[in-house]
Parts: sequence; C-alpha cells; structure tokens
Amino acid sequence: MLLGVNIDHVATLRNARGGIEPSVIDAARIAEENGATSITTHLREDRRHIKDEDVYTLTKTLKTKLNLEMAMAEDIQKIALEIKPHSICLVPEKRQEITTEGGLDVAGQLDKVTKFIKPLLDAGIIVSLFIDPDSEQVKASAKTGAQYIEMHTGTYSETFGTEKEEAEFLKLKNAAKLAQSLGLTVNAGHGLNYENVHRMHEIEGLYELNIGHSIISRAVFTGLPEAVSKMKELIK
Ligand code: PXP
Repeated sequence: MLLGVNIDHVATLRNARGGIEPSVIDAARIAEENGATSITTHLREDRRHIKDEDVYTLTKTLKTKLNLEMAMAEDIQKIALEIKPHSICLVPEKRQEITTEGGLDVAGQLDKVTKFIKPLLDAGIIVSLFIDPDSEQVKASAKTGAQYIEMHTGTYSETFGTEKEEAEFLKLKNAAKLAQSLGLTVNAGHGLNYENVHRMHEIEGLYELNIGHSIISRAVFTGLPEAVSKMKELIK
C-alpha cells in the first residue's frame, strides 16, 4: 500500500501564529524523503489551514504527487483546473465541522457530482470520491466517471478495539471488493493511526492510505522523519 501524507495540520499550527513556520513546503519535502508517495492537502472554502499560495507552491516543489481535497465549490474547481494536481478527492464540507465528518453523498446527488467532476476529468486529473463504505455510494460513484474512491475509515477507527469494530471493518472490506469489481481504484483514510492501520492489510488491493492527524501528532514527539517512516513501515 502507498502512503499519502496529509499536511493540513502543519498549516493549522502555522496559522495559529499567523507567521511562516512550520513550513508546509518543508513538511511535504520531509514526508516525501521518508516514504510518502503523495501529499494531500484540503483547500477548504474557509481556508482555515491550507491557503491558495501553499497549493501553488506545492505544485512546483513536490517530487511525488499532489492530491487536492476539495468540496464541490466552483472557485476551488477553478484553482484545480489551473494547477492540475495529479488527483483531486471530492469531499463534503460543512463550515462548522472540525474535520470532514462523513462521506460524500454521491448516490443522492449523482447528476451534480457527475457534472462537477467532468471538467476535472477532461483536464486529465484523477478524480477520487470520498465516500462511506456503503454499497449504494460505491455503485453511484462508479457511474460518475471517477476513477477512484477513498473509503471513509472514520467509523472503523472510532470503533477499533470495541465490539463494533468487526462490523465496521467488514463494511470496508465489502465496499472495497464491490468497488474493485466495478473498475474503481480504492484508497482509504480518516482516523487511521499506528494501532489501527494494520487491518488495512486485510483488504485486498487497497491502493493508497491518506493519513494526517496521527502522523503529525506523533511527529511532535519523534520528529516528522520518524513518524512518516514508521507509518510507511507499518503499511508496506
Ligand atoms: N482523507 C480525507 C478525505 C480527509 O478529509 C482526511 C482528513 O482531512 C484524511 C483522509 C486524513 O484523516 P486523518 O487526519 O484523520 O488521518
């Protein structure tokens, strides 16, 4: 499995003082040097962490791939079409949420999603849809033209180590199988950490995991090189 490192929290820390450190550009470079196969950033509508100039600079400095998380917002779509990241991951976005709370409801807005991603696909950008591990969402995603899905692992992560874990894990396993049978490449992410990530090995053919919070949290104590390389070791 490949490791995409989400560096949004580095920007959160930087913005807390309004200055330039810690640098998200340096964080991305260090993550790449220690095994990240892509760098993920979420350009939120309220720009609470990653800012436009971060994305523009990363486009020039990254050695691997930029995965741009975005909501269905036209101004962000415009930026994506301008910078042409390797991939975009379409996520739902609520202004008040602390982090992305649930998967995108593709089944409930199939036409809207299909129309929104068309220009991105036409521009040669890989489109991934961040969805809950639910068969209706998977089937709808396959109809949109998107090539990837990213399964929301938040509930699995929250229930890890409880009696509910197995049921949540099975949802991921079944959704991945269905998605792959429909020709989709399957990524996963949200809430994965050094304890719960190992079960991702039980899901055949998972392509890439996108992990942010646990890596940046660990890096506070061990440094980013160790935090990224340790996670890389666990998922390889
Ligand atoms: N994937 C998506 C689509 C996300 O929105 C996030 C959180 O920004 C992540 C992965 C990473 O989640 P975490 O920070 O919990 O590892």
